[in-house]
Amino acid sequence: MLLVKAFAAVVLASGFHFVQTAPTLAQGFKNDLAIANLFISNPIQSDVTSSYNSTLNVLVIDEDYPDEKPVHCQIEWEAGTAPPDTTQYQCDNVTTRAWFPENTFKGVKNFQLQFARTVIDSTVGECPQYCYLTKYAAVNLTYPGTPNYECDTKNATCEQRVNTTIKAPVFLSVA
Ligand SMILES: *[C@@H]1O[C@H](CO)[C@@H](O)[C@H](O)[C@H]1NC(C)=O
Ligand SMILES: *[C@@H]1O[C@H](CO)[C@@H](O)[C@H](O)[C@H]1NC(C)=O
Ligand SMILES: *[C@@H]1O[C@H](CO)[C@@H](O)[C@H](O)[C@H]1NC(C)=O
Ligand SMILES: *[C@@H]1O[C@H](CO)[C@@H](O)[C@H](O)[C@H]1NC(C)=O
Ligand SMILES: *[C@@H]1O[C@H](CO)[C@@H](O)[C@H](O)[C@H]1NC(C)=O
Repeated sequence: MLLVKAFAAVVLASGFHFVQTAPTLAQGFKNDLAIANLFISNPIQSDVTSSYNSTLNVLVIDEDYPDEKPVHCQIEWEAGTAPPDTTQYQCDNVTTRAWFPENTFKGVKNFQLQFARTVIDSTVGECPQYCYLTKYAAVNLTYPGTPNYECDTKNATCEQRVNTTIKAPVFLSVA
């Protein structure tokens, strides 16, 4: 299990990030996350009697590790219920989590997604205890507004254009 160690540095980042425990910039903390292939469907939004689940699928890219396979995340919730706003694992790889921050989901045309991604980086401290880095990132999706994000209002679905990425800036880094 990858767990964040609570004792160490918490760095609020705006524009650039650094880790107080490391003499140099930690490798895993230089860049942001990005998303690709986002698809969201919220059937109850176009048909109030629908009992179909709502789903969001997305690929999460860590720009610090551009050669790694993107992590697929799926968030699913039942018709008429609030979408998950917890930090439980919704992704195929335990390195990554995805969720909707509480009260930010206003429908497929206006919501925020947050991600947490944990990597092992021995430049911040000794492994195995002190070498975990977690960065938290957020992205707002609005239609119209967000480039490469398109909605089919009648169907209550939205998708990201193929072969595009949308940046999810890191807002907090924890070592
Ligand atoms: C609907 O979503 C809930 C919550 O994720 C899940 O437990 C359930 O199996 C889903 N139902 C269907 C038909 O996929
Ligand atoms: C999970 O991610 C880590 C780090 O990016 C990678 O080394 C590992 O192969 C991935 N595991 C799976 C099952 O994709
Ligand atoms: C998303 O929108 C909220 C509310 O407008 C704003 O406070 C926040 O800074 C935005 N976040 C990003 C990553 O754009
Ligand atoms: C309508 O939404 C469903 C999922 O709810 C999706 O499979 C289908 O492709 C969508 N139709 C169009 C025309 O986008
Ligand atoms: C997306 O990228 C792939 C691989 O580079 C390419 O084969 C495909 O034509 C692209 N699709 C579009 C719609 O640009």
